[in-house]
Amino acid sequence: MTVIKLLLIIVAGIILIHQVVMRIVRRFWHFPAPAFISHVLDSKLRQRVQPPERLMKWSGIAEGMTVLDLGCGSGALTIPYARAVGQDGRVYALDIQPDMLALLAQKLAQPDNKGISNVLPIRASAEDLPFADNSLDVVCVTTVLYEIPDPQQALREIKRVLRVGGYLAISELFMDPDYRLKSTTIKLGLQAGFVLEEAFGNLWAYTVRFTRLEAI
Ligand SMILES: C[S@@+](CC[C@H](N)C(=O)[O-])C[C@H]1O[C@@H](n2cnc3c(N)ncnc32)[C@H](O)[C@@H]1O
Repeated sequence: MTVIKLLLIIVAGIILIHQVVMRIVRRFWHFPAPAFISHVLDSKLRQRVQPPERLMKWSGIAEGMTVLDLGCGSGALTIPYARAVGQDGRVYALDIQPDMLALLAQKLAQPDNKGISNVLPIRASAEDLPFADNSLDVVCVTTVLYEIPDPQQALREIKRVLRVGGYLAISELFMDPDYRLKSTTIKLGLQAGFVLEEAFGNLWAYTVRFTRLEAI
């Protein structure tokens, strides 16, 4: 019993030190999450902590919508989004890293996903979005915002491309080294001129949903 307790304390200590060190490093050194973390993004544990169905409900995604999965990574959420919007909707899967988009392409090529034809992968930066003004229904930013060197610029771009009445859903996971508190995300969204619709979840996994009221 004592040995098990000791082991648990050691494991918890290692995780804590790892988290603290990673968070300090990430505050000063910005780089996109490497493609090998797709194992974590696609893991069963992640799906349990941040189930795609719950994220979609909180983000306001519905059939027929045009959704931007900004910083889509390996596509852990892109595929559920594509199924939810259906054939009348579309999902732009945008990422800055070709390696991540290659993983998404592999996923789309799997037999289970053969029927999905409404995903459009795009390599671009969140700070310079290749979309027309007022053209998107929902922009989902999941464990991405605080990885972007200039999050304010990304929010300005999102505001430009989101239609009036559309949703910006920013979701964060505590285990992400770039994680910031819900209150920080709310403050940043309001500063960028979005209107707060609702905040969901808890310290470990949350979504803040904003909307855009005024026309550009
Ligand atoms: C932690 S992953 C999250 C992936 C996905 N959203 C998910 O939740 O499974 C962060 C992703 O954001 C992308 N990213 C980082 N900075 C970016 C930027 N400036 N523009 C576009 N994508 C970016 C990274 O390449 C990476 O794929």
